[in-house]
Amino acid sequence: MSLTTILEKRHSVRAFLDTPVKQEHLNAIFAQAQSAPSNCNVQPWQTCVVSGAKKESLKDELTAAVMSGMPPNPDFNWLPKYEGIHRDRQFGSANALYSAIGVTREDKKGRQIAMLRNWSFFDAPHVAFFTMDKYLDIMGAVDLGIYAQTLSLIMAEHGLSNCMQGALGQFPDPIKKALNLPEKSGILFGMSFGYADKNAPVNKTRTDREDIANAVSFFK
Ligand SMILES: Cc1cc2nc3c(=O)[nH]c(=O)nc-3n(C[C@H](O)[C@H](O)[C@H](O)COP(=O)(O)O)c2cc1C
Repeated sequence: MSLTTILEKRHSVRAFLDTPVKQEHLNAIFAQAQSAPSNCNVQPWQTCVVSGAKKESLKDELTAAVMSGMPPNPDFNWLPKYEGIHRDRQFGSANALYSAIGVTREDKKGRQIAMLRNWSFFDAPHVAFFTMDKYLDIMGAVDLGIYAQTLSLIMAEHGLSNCMQGALGQFPDPIKKALNLPEKSGILFGMSFGYADKNAPVNKTRTDREDIANAVSFFK
């Protein structure tokens, strides 16, 4: 598939078939993603791919922690309060998601349940956590973003879909404990992935994009 076709077809996927990806495919995909560029080639990403029984127990722990009402405790200061047009677009993407699954604006409980699906990894067979040393701060975050999108495109080439999830950086403590991560490392975000369930209503979610005229300026 050409990159143009991949980009035309791509969208975040939040429901998956119960079909694990073969380990040799995982190895090939993550090996290819190592070609992502990074500032001074520091390659700050330390990726944890969690599957099987470990993923199931982590899902239970994480969901219980979030439902207990514990406050978010992210390792990185990544979630701004969006303003103006950014806030409008944030609402637009939330509306697209909720209308695909038939949750109304007033249905607070329905929205909470949909949000909670983040921490059960949308029942994907695999979840990747993108971690890096905390001191790396914003430049490390740039590198991890580029790495994650590289990974996402390679996955698409292999017929896999994913959803990147900032939500997976909000409650890092149970994840770090389960994966035995050192104190110096932080979880920036994550990605649930696998084979898309093409019939799931949530996967009919589609978002808009700004016209190039409002996003890019050409200077000569
Ligand atoms: C860094 C990042 C974090 C995201 N976090 C979440 C998330 O926590 N939960 C979620 O359902 N989608 C998340 N998304 C997916 C976005 O909502 C989605 O990319 C956006 O609405 C555009 O829709 P599309 O990917 O379907 O084109 C995230 C995407 C990115 C790039």
